[in-house]
Amino acid sequence: MSTLPQQPSEGTNRERPTVAVARAARMLADAGVEGARAEAELLAAYVLGVSRGRLALADGFTPAQRDRFDALVTRRADREPLQHLTGTAAFRHLELAVGPGVFVPRPETELLAGWGVDQARRIPEPLVVDLCSGSGAIALAVAQEVPAARVVAVEGSPEALSWLRRNAADRAAAGDRPIEVVAADVTAPDLLADLAGRVDVLLCNPPYVPADVTVPPEVGRHDPANAVFGGGDGLSVIRPVVARVAVLLRPGGVLGMEHDDTHGEVVPRLLAEDGRYASIADHTDLAGRPRFATASRRADGPHAGDGPAWQTASS
Ligand SMILES: C[S@@+](CC[C@H](N)C(=O)[O-])C[C@H]1O[C@@H](n2cnc3c(N)ncnc32)[C@H](O)[C@@H]1O
Repeated sequence: MSTLPQQPSEGTNRERPTVAVARAARMLADAGVEGARAEAELLAAYVLGVSRGRLALADGFTPAQRDRFDALVTRRADREPLQHLTGTAAFRHLELAVGPGVFVPRPETELLAGWGVDQARRIPEPLVVDLCSGSGAIALAVAQEVPAARVVAVEGSPEALSWLRRNAADRAAAGDRPIEVVAADVTAPDLLADLAGRVDVLLCNPPYVPADVTVPPEVGRHDPANAVFGGGDGLSVIRPVVARVAVLLRPGGVLGMEHDDTHGEVVPRLLAEDGRYASIADHTDLAGRPRFATASRRADGPHAGDGPAWQTASS
C-alpha cells in the first residue's frame, strides 16, 4: 500500500504552519493589514523560532504555540506594529530592539543611511552625526558599516534614549565601534557646540509629517507623536536643523535629511535659501517618491565661516 509523504506535523496534535498562516493571513487582511500573508508568516516563524524561509520545513505548532500565535495575530489585527510584537526591527544589517516609546525604523530610511555610509567611506576617519536618532538605526548602521567612523547620535525623548542606549550597548558588545549618545534638543541654537565646523557627514530623519495628516493606526497609536509630526507644515524641526547643521558641518561636509514625500521641493528650497549650502539635490525612494535631500557645506561665498560669524554679519 502506498502512503502519501508525511507532513512534519502529521499524526500529532500539531497544527501545520501552512494552515495556521492561511487562517492568520485572512484575519489580518480583514483587519486592513497590508502584506497580510507576509506578516502572518513572520509571526509564525517568530513563534516557532525559525526563519521565515524555513517555515515550510518546521514542526507544526504545539497547542501552547498555537495559543501564543493566535494571541499575537489578534494583537496585530488590532493594528499593533509587527515590530512591537516581535520586539525587533530589521534595519540594513542590524536587528534593533524596539517597542513602546520609540519610533520603528522604516525600510525607506535605509536609503538615507546607505547614502551616509557611502559618504563616510570616502573619508579616512569621518566624524558622523545622526540627529533625531530614535532607536539608533542610522547611527548604528554607520558604525557597523564604517568602522573608522566616530559616530555621535543625538536624541531628545527620554523613552527613545533608553532604547537607543540599549541598542548602542548591544552593538558595542557585538564588536562594533561604540557610538556616542547625546541627550539634546536638536532645535537648540547651541546644539553640539564643541563639534561646530568639524562634522564630515550629518544625517537626520526628523519628525516631518504635517499635523493634519491622518496616519495608519500602527503609526497614530504606537509611534510617539513627537517622532512623527513636525508641526502644522511638517517643517518645525527641519527649519532649525537646516540652520544649525550649516554651523556644525566643516566646509565640504555633507548633510542628508529625510523628509515627507510632499516636501521634495520645499526642503531643497530651505537649504538653498539658507545660503550656506551647495550641491543641493533631492532623492526618491524605491516607490519613486521624494524621500531625502542632500547638500554640502559651502566653503566660499558670503556665508562662509562658522555660524556665529555669519549670524553676526546678518544681524
Ligand atoms: C522619525 S523618528 C527617526 C528615528 C530614527 N532616526 C529612524 O530613522 O528610525 C524622529 C526622532 O526624533 C526625535 N525628536 C523629535 N524632536 C526632537 C528634538 N527637538 N530634539 C531631539 N530629538 C527629537 C524623536 O523622539 C524621534 O526619536
